[in-house]
Amino acid sequence: MREMKGDDEGILATGGASPGRPLCLSCYDFSGCINRQYSRMMRKCRVIKVLLWLIAIVMVPYLYMEITFPVRYMFRHANTSSSCIIPSLNPYDPSIMKYVWDPKPLTCDPSTNILTVDNHGLVIFNKSALAILKLSMNQLSCTYRILRRQNDDVSVKFDEPLTLSPPTRVNADFFYTECSIDGKLIFDQILTNVAKESVHRTTPLLEESAHHLSVVMFGVDSVSRSASIRKLPKTIRYLREELGSYDLKGYMKVGENTLPNLTPLLTGRRVWTSEVPIKDYTTDPFDPFPFLWRNFSERGAATLYAEDFPEIGTFTYLTRGFVRPPTDHYMRPFWLGAVDRERMRSKLGPIFLYLENKNVNLQGGGSTLCYKDRPKHVVLIDYLKQFLITYKNKRKMMFSFLVEFSHEYPNFLSYGDGDFLEFLKWMKTNGHLDNTVLVFFSDHGSRIDEIRNTFVGRIEDRMPMLHMVIPDHIKSKFPNVDTSLKINLNRLTTPFDVHQTMIDVLNSDFETPTKSFIDGTVRSLSLLKSIPEGRSCTDAWVPENYCACYTSTPVNVTDRTAKALAGAMIRDLNKRLAVEHQCATLALDRVTDVRHVLSGLQHTETDNKGISLMQFFRPEDRALQRYDLTIETVPGHGAFEATYHVTSGSEFRLVGDIVRVNKYGSQSACITDKLLRPLCYCKGQ
Ligand SMILES: *[C@@H]1O[C@H](CO)[C@@H](O)[C@H](O)[C@H]1NC(C)=O
Ligand SMILES: *[C@@H]1O[C@H](CO)[C@@H](O)[C@H](O)[C@H]1NC(C)=O
Ligand SMILES: *[C@@H]1O[C@H](CO)[C@@H](O)[C@H](O)[C@H]1NC(C)=O
Ligand SMILES: *[C@@H]1O[C@H](CO)[C@@H](O)[C@H](O)[C@H]1NC(C)=O
Repeated sequence: MREMKGDDEGILATGGASPGRPLCLSCYDFSGCINRQYSRMMRKCRVIKVLLWLIAIVMVPYLYMEITFPVRYMFRHANTSSSCIIPSLNPYDPSIMKYVWDPKPLTCDPSTNILTVDNHGLVIFNKSALAILKLSMNQLSCTYRILRRQNDDVSVKFDEPLTLSPPTRVNADFFYTECSIDGKLIFDQILTNVAKESVHRTTPLLEESAHHLSVVMFGVDSVSRSASIRKLPKTIRYLREELGSYDLKGYMKVGENTLPNLTPLLTGRRVWTSEVPIKDYTTDPFDPFPFLWRNFSERGAATLYAEDFPEIGTFTYLTRGFVRPPTDHYMRPFWLGAVDRERMRSKLGPIFLYLENKNVNLQGGGSTLCYKDRPKHVVLIDYLKQFLITYKNKRKMMFSFLVEFSHEYPNFLSYGDGDFLEFLKWMKTNGHLDNTVLVFFSDHGSRIDEIRNTFVGRIEDRMPMLHMVIPDHIKSKFPNVDTSLKINLNRLTTPFDVHQTMIDVLNSDFETPTKSFIDGTVRSLSLLKSIPEGRSCTDAWVPENYCACYTSTPVNVTDRTAKALAGAMIRDLNKRLAVEHQCATLALDRVTDVRHVLSGLQHTETDNKGISLMQFFRPEDRALQRYDLTIETVPGHGAFEATYHVTSGSEFRLVGDIVRVNKYGSQSACITDKLLRPLCYCKGQ
């Protein structure tokens, strides 16, 4: 006989109950209960059941989230001093497509905007909106309250309300307007304006000219080059084809998130080091940093810094921000004011956005990504336009960074495509790019863990988009600018280099591009001069955690793989030439060079944030099997270069084109096909 401990008795005792003493302790067996006990027991059981259900409803999703939460795998570069081979990624790689989808169209508050600020800075009634609402101006009584920044980056105050009688000028960049009819509020919104007169400059404004260029930097948070191709197709096409942008394919981040990437871009220095003049980031403001906008301001440029989503501002998230406004026009107070007016909505914003990412919109008044009737990114762009109009023909340095819609959820980026395109076209047609260097960029790729744990996502995160547009007159006057930038498209480049390029633009130094040194080694190279081909991450000051370069090792040209590759390349060459009967069939003379290209990243550790089961899985670590080879053929001694991938069936598949790398002169004079001429050797020579 087993002995029973007291604790177990309640559950197990029924079987051994003596007949005289009914036991009524189990919710599964009421046989021992007498009537009165039965109903009491039923009630108790019902309560227990409800409790169990509640626990299940709360605990199951919680545990599910805890267990399946993606952990972050850390990958370091194995040898940052090896020369960089720029990874070329397929933006539509099947391994990441499950994270890519199109969100529902963005809908904002449908109510009509009756007040607006026109291109001359006048607050006016929108006549067509009034007509739609069947309102006349004299029914409306409106007030405005100027929004004032206090001496920091956290607090704003609204002045006492004053009567607003449009058309009128308000001498402030941001003011809260309210209109009512018979005491009933029908419109309220914070309006933006670029009030030139409200700015106290120490240096006079100078004209922009073919010699003194302006700079427009337009950034979007967390957009890799691949993501820009997937999500901003119209914008990217316009940049490349209509504006002739230089699309830097080897642009690499130098720090984890926004601050350590924007600081090099804006100052040429690294944050959290002795290179910058502050020590305690929680108490010391960023005011003494040598920001580019200060250099431009000294040279007579009007300056602007705009960034949405004040909750996690680049210079304010867990840091002190600025005491004095960093630029002539500074948008942060607007966003703080918007949060202040809609406190409840702002608090719940992250939750609503999370649901919107699951295609659930619980807000009648429009998406969290809107301010009133417009998407927030459009509100920001409208302010930039006001700045560009106000300072038309004056020298300018504009720095804008969009955060909220791309920071957490990479698919909302699609919402920007049409509006960015429209903004670029607007700038182009209104002459705002005539004497301006435009930089369209991001700080890093998507950092969300799911994508980052794939082979492709890991590299995407390290390779943000960056497009640079240079006015045509500069390119024709200084041919080195175009030649160098074209070379640098395929070289390893960093935010330090972009900063150095802006210094050249500041000094109109197009003929003698500069570089800068730190501790005796060169770090920032102007992109207006060609960057060395063999540049490594160490040379470029890209730390091993962020270096995305592939590396290569030489393969002995007598080796079996080398021979098989050369065979495949000869076959591919002759296949191309087969359409031209005058071209001789080519044969291998010798293999000149074969390199095995490898991903330089190695899994080092797992950043475990909870009890996730995912930590027991190995992160995807696709073996990259790529070879680059050069061969020489006969007849004609043509030298050709190509890249091959090893496919699953250990076949070799040509990637891209076969490129002729020595002179071919008149060898192919018998044919006219431009693409085949470098490959062909005419028969009978
Ligand atoms: C790293 O690469 C450099 C340049 O290719 C090479 O000289 C060095 O030996 C490599 N180091 C290691 C540890 O492989
Ligand atoms: C004026 O209102 C009309 C109708 O609502 C709207 O389509 C238009 O965009 C508004 N104009 C401005 C400048 O806000
Ligand atoms: C830019 O300004 C900083 C101070 O903010 C100064 O140290 C630096 O030398 C200036 N750079 C140029 C190129 O004028
Ligand atoms: C390549 O392999 C051959 C035969 O194994 C050997 O003789 C030759 O020295 C190797 N060449 C190089 C550069 O290692």
